[in-house]
Amino acid sequence: AKTQEHEFVIQATPVKRLCSTHSTITVNGQFPGPTLEVNNGDTLVVKVTNKARYNVTIHWHGIRQMRTGWADGPEFVTQCPIRPGESYTYRFTIQGQEGTLWWHAHSSWLRATVYGALIIHPREGEAYPFPKPKRETPILLGEWWDANPIDVLRQATQTGAAPNISDAYTINGQPGDLYKCSSQDTTVVPIDSGETNLLRVINAAPNQPLFFTVANHKLTVVGADASYLKPFTTSVIMLGPGQTTDVLIQGDQPPTRYYVAARAYQSAQNAPFDNTTTTAILEYKSAPCPAKGVSIKPLMPSLPAYNDTNTVTAFSKSFRSPRKVEVPAEIDDNLFFTIGLGLNNCPPNFSPNQCQGPNGTRFTASMNNVSFVLPNNVSILQAHHLGVQGVFTTDFPTQPPLQFDYTGNVSRSLWQPVPGTKVTKLKFGSRVQIVLQDTSIVTPENHPIHLHGYDFYIVAEGFGNFDPKKDTSKFNLVDPPMRNTVAVPVKGWAVIRFVADNPGAWIMHCHLDVHIGWGLATVLLVDNGVGLLQSIEPPPEDLPLC
Ligand code: C2O
Repeated sequence: AKTQEHEFVIQATPVKRLCSTHSTITVNGQFPGPTLEVNNGDTLVVKVTNKARYNVTIHWHGIRQMRTGWADGPEFVTQCPIRPGESYTYRFTIQGQEGTLWWHAHSSWLRATVYGALIIHPREGEAYPFPKPKRETPILLGEWWDANPIDVLRQATQTGAAPNISDAYTINGQPGDLYKCSSQDTTVVPIDSGETNLLRVINAAPNQPLFFTVANHKLTVVGADASYLKPFTTSVIMLGPGQTTDVLIQGDQPPTRYYVAARAYQSAQNAPFDNTTTTAILEYKSAPCPAKGVSIKPLMPSLPAYNDTNTVTAFSKSFRSPRKVEVPAEIDDNLFFTIGLGLNNCPPNFSPNQCQGPNGTRFTASMNNVSFVLPNNVSILQAHHLGVQGVFTTDFPTQPPLQFDYTGNVSRSLWQPVPGTKVTKLKFGSRVQIVLQDTSIVTPENHPIHLHGYDFYIVAEGFGNFDPKKDTSKFNLVDPPMRNTVAVPVKGWAVIRFVADNPGAWIMHCHLDVHIGWGLATVLLVDNGVGLLQSIEPPPEDLPLC
């Protein structure tokens, strides 16, 4: 195993998209940012220097960070932000993970443009558990706003309304042929004729689950979130924000040009969304070049309807681990978290234009009716480590406030969550089950729930109200898929299991950025009870202070 060193400079860079040039926050002037490629077992050392005018942190999405919680990155959870002019060096080792992950800013809405792929190859000398692809290409799906994304967020927080929808989706930073002023720069995805090719698809869009497909080609899914899967073949995949999917594609079609395309899976009802389609061009490298000036129009694939939940369900039901896995059979901590939106009444000191949500309210969101508030003068991990009192409380409810019908008739008392910085303490080594239940309050929605510091098994998913009596018998404890982000079915639930074997403070949140801002998050604090420094490495000397 080797150690790789990188430098990330966060800076404002002019980026031209959709006919105009925007000052965009980038890493090293690149949008999307640099792809990091490592082998399982390697150590990454990334020095991040902030030359922008916003606070920033970088999160290594899906990296387990065993004993290195100080390098995880979410602001005010494991570190204070890196202020303009300052630097922080992230140091961590990849232990046992292989496949596609990514990195992104974990501060305000900077991740709309500050993100890149993190590819983990097998250990040197080891092979993939599938035919070796001739060519590998990362595909980063994103969302583009003509406005500065920070201003989009600011406007939403100031008015209490939903943020403006994006102006385009992107593939590797480019909207593609179907958008104005974009066709010149459409992303090209090369494949080799007669060969196996690997596409590493990442949903980096801040606020939108996306369907992804390639015209005339089958996709063989072999991994997701840096865990291998039992291969299965499909024509379309769906990724919630944060999720990754590795697909093999055979160069078995006539060697012309085909579109690769993505557009919204929009499970929220009556909510406005960006219904445009982003495309890239799949190009056979072995094909004779078309004569100059001759343009061959690529073939357009068909994509599911924006509200096609049946396709999403069939897709996620196909996920299996490649072999029998060790799922905790007995459970020590059995938790039940509701996830959903809410509407807060307009506070008396607010003016009407600060309350532009439905009927003069402000949007909010919660887990178990607690709307998560980040601390602002110290991180939760620092506070825990130093014993600073008054930063958080450990009384997060591990069960919902009351049993109710989550299919749409939700008691009004649960529409107004209570703000708080409440965490759940878990004993090191505890076998944990969490039921995640969509409340359908305000609107039912497919929430991508991401847990830092862990991969978990998704043992079951379903619609309606989770019923322990009849649903427990359906759990897959043999070969469930392992992931770090679960797309909880709209109007439904998902059950995850893991062993709390990684001490630290780990945020669990909806990966729709707007929902984190509204409080759809909580923190799991895992401690072996003998003091944090016995369990994790000491904080790095350059750890930013607030
Ligand atoms: Cu990719 Cu906390 O997120």
